[in-house]
Amino acid sequence: MDFFFLPSWVVVVLVVAVLTIIYLHYSWDNRRKFGLPGPTPLPLLGHMVDLMKNGLCDFDLNVTKTYGNTVALSSGMFFNFLGDIMITDPEMLKEVMVKQASVFTDRNTDPDIEISPVDKSVFAVRGEQWKQMRSTLTPTFSSGKLRHMEAMILKCANTLIENLKKKAKAGESFDNKIWGWFTMDVICTTAFGVEVDSLNNPNHPFVKNAEKANNISLADPVVFLMFFAPRLVKKLSPILRHVPGFRGVLGSFQFFGETTKALLDVRKQAQEGHYNDFLQLMLTAHTMSTSDLGDDEKEVAKWKKKALTTDEIAGNGIIFFIAGFGTANDTLGFTTYLLATHPEIQQRLIQEIDDVLQGAEPTYDTVSKLGYLEQVLNESMRLYPVGIRVDRVANQDTTVNGLFIPKGTAVAIPIYAIHMDPEKYPDPEKFDPERFTPEEKAKRNPYWYMPFGVGPRNCIGMRLALLEMKIIIVKVLQNFTLKTCAETQVPLVLSKSNPMKPEKPIILKVEERFV
Ligand code: HEM
Repeated sequence: MDFFFLPSWVVVVLVVAVLTIIYLHYSWDNRRKFGLPGPTPLPLLGHMVDLMKNGLCDFDLNVTKTYGNTVALSSGMFFNFLGDIMITDPEMLKEVMVKQASVFTDRNTDPDIEISPVDKSVFAVRGEQWKQMRSTLTPTFSSGKLRHMEAMILKCANTLIENLKKKAKAGESFDNKIWGWFTMDVICTTAFGVEVDSLNNPNHPFVKNAEKANNISLADPVVFLMFFAPRLVKKLSPILRHVPGFRGVLGSFQFFGETTKALLDVRKQAQEGHYNDFLQLMLTAHTMSTSDLGDDEKEVAKWKKKALTTDEIAGNGIIFFIAGFGTANDTLGFTTYLLATHPEIQQRLIQEIDDVLQGAEPTYDTVSKLGYLEQVLNESMRLYPVGIRVDRVANQDTTVNGLFIPKGTAVAIPIYAIHMDPEKYPDPEKFDPERFTPEEKAKRNPYWYMPFGVGPRNCIGMRLALLEMKIIIVKVLQNFTLKTCAETQVPLVLSKSNPMKPEKPIILKVEERFV
């Protein structure tokens, strides 16, 4: 029997398709599963349209503003990278990130889609394997090891200062890429023992590949596919990395993997040689002393350790490079913009630097005495936390503050949305380092500020990042004042497709303080 003009088999297919969509729509709606409020997902598409329209930062802001501190999210047919529930309640954050950290150990990533050797890095590995690796790597970032890297960082800073002097003399402006040249030089020497001078060698393969890896935008076809069809990208990656337009991220992963292995081979064959970089430290990390670690790190360092394999060292080399270069680069771009647009705050910071350092070179110990610098950086990372959100997945059924969370649930923690909540930070758009005086900090819940994440799975490179950012800011302000110019976009607008990046390059000028 035909239904109107359609043959009956087509009618059957249509009815089954519609019923399947309705079934999937309801079974994928996490509001019902968790009994929590949340935005209404579109059939099959979940929240994807909203996300594409508003960008990740505004998506998280809108969701927390509208639905409160514990919200259900539904991903539809896509990989569930948004998470199943999103929490901003401080008690729940404490449970998930610290108290029940052994339940919420892993990130919300899919082991089947990770690309080798990044899948063997501390960022990606799971469960017991992560605990062993994190414990093994923790002493490589200790204060003692960082003190040995201080001279390398200062050398990179001095190279940048010489270049900035030329710009100042010529009255030339520059964009935020300039900080990337510094953070690139720092990570190349501290991680791999390779001196690059990226400002004067912009075509160096390290520079080119790091730029590609740092420009992860949904407008890039490979990144788009990685988000929406990750399994397909993994399957096709050996072919895609040779296709123009798809080479970007995949090609740079391959480059850093191969480079790390080649450098390791040289190290292993060399009879002698004294290297102070992470590559060398990783070779002996499992035997390192833990005496100069902080109390929380000592706890982590007590977990079982094991020698790292070549693939694991290569995977970590890539992750240190990617995590270390772009994050500090972007944070410096935002911080220098904020200082240039707030001359009174910049002046107070210059005064502190002059008073404490009296013109001396900054060191690990002296930068820690600069309290106002710490306040400025903290406030800059509150406004622009480059790790916009983090997540954890439950490895067993558990209950958090009365909410039953089944095994496999992905919990999202929207750092940017927490930092921009007017109830936590009145007038949140305002740059105000006074929010981070010791007195103001003591009044606030510690879970309301987490640019480096929180708990045992927080950022392993935090101290290195803070050290290099403090050294370069001190060096810049010992020599120059930062200025806006006609090309500076004020106010700064964030990109929608490229989360936590400025829509336009941040263009500034410097004027020499002593001429
Ligand atoms: C301004 C600079 C930086 C910021 C804002 C930043 C932020 C973050 C955040 C938010 C996380 C996730 C933490 C969590 O899930 O709780 C993270 C993880 C990580 N970061 Fe950073 N990061 C920075 C610099 C660095 C540097 C310089 C390195 C390495 C040299 C680094 C290496 C890592 C690694 C390896 C992880 C994964 C740790 C694990 O899973 O055990 N980061 N970072």
